[in-house]
Amino acid sequence: MVRLIRKILKRVVGPFLAFRYTGHFQPFIKKNKGIDKLGRKPLISWISYHQYDVVGIDTHFLGHRALKNPMDAWVYQEIVYEVKPDVVLEIGNKNGGSTLYLAVLLETMGHGRVLGLDIDHSRFTPKHERIDLITGDSSDPEIIKKVHEYCKGKKVLVIHDADHSYRAVLTDLRNYQDLVSPGSYLIVEDTIEGLRGFRYSDFPFQTFIRPHMDKPLQAVFEFMKENKRFEIDRSREKWILTANPYGFLKCIGD
Ligand SMILES: C[S@@+](CC[C@H](N)C(=O)[O-])C[C@H]1O[C@@H](n2cnc3c(N)ncnc32)[C@H](O)[C@@H]1O
Repeated sequence: MVRLIRKILKRVVGPFLAFRYTGHFQPFIKKNKGIDKLGRKPLISWISYHQYDVVGIDTHFLGHRALKNPMDAWVYQEIVYEVKPDVVLEIGNKNGGSTLYLAVLLETMGHGRVLGLDIDHSRFTPKHERIDLITGDSSDPEIIKKVHEYCKGKKVLVIHDADHSYRAVLTDLRNYQDLVSPGSYLIVEDTIEGLRGFRYSDFPFQTFIRPHMDKPLQAVFEFMKENKRFEIDRSREKWILTANPYGFLKCIGD
């Protein structure tokens, strides 16, 4: 009975609520029926579908699960090639497909290592000569120290994809921003979850009743108020369908 009510709310009421708040009817894309069967869905609906029903479930790099929007992965490749970092620090690795992707890029370029930091590496599957791992809580002072020692004197690119709550992201941005070299980037993932109209739950009311305040996007805005070393580089959102709107922070300071 409860499931039936949820289903009705999702199908019938959800799109009207979405319209009220975003100006679009937002029937959620639930299954891939092919582009010709999907009709005129708004972009925010496409990105919700990508984020939860594809990236979150069935996206792999060389057989290893990677929670990565392929359009973002392409942009990462462009940034890595331009910056040519000595170290890519990936905070949050989970299954490791994204870490392996970065390592393969660096291997192809013949330069650089990936430092993967995660509180739990038990699900991490890949092995690669260019990957080093540090296991621990990113907010732990001992871990922060270890990462800083590893990165000392190196050109560093940082990708944040760990705990996505406002407080945790802001804390990590503050603790690791100094590692990012001028011209390099601090990429904050999944800022999309803080955009109005984005569905982050199967239950449509949650999107609109609970404001998107406890998200990486809000942490980025707060961080940008207090830190003048970075600018938001929106040119990196050229595909539009990114999981990281306002999340590509370019280091312009010393
Ligand atoms: C979204 S997943 C990372 C996905 C991966 N980057 C990818 O694209 O496939 C988030 C990861 O952050 C880790 N994590 C959560 N809180 C953390 C913390 N305080 N310190 C370090 N890692 C944390 C989790 O264990 C999880 O593996």
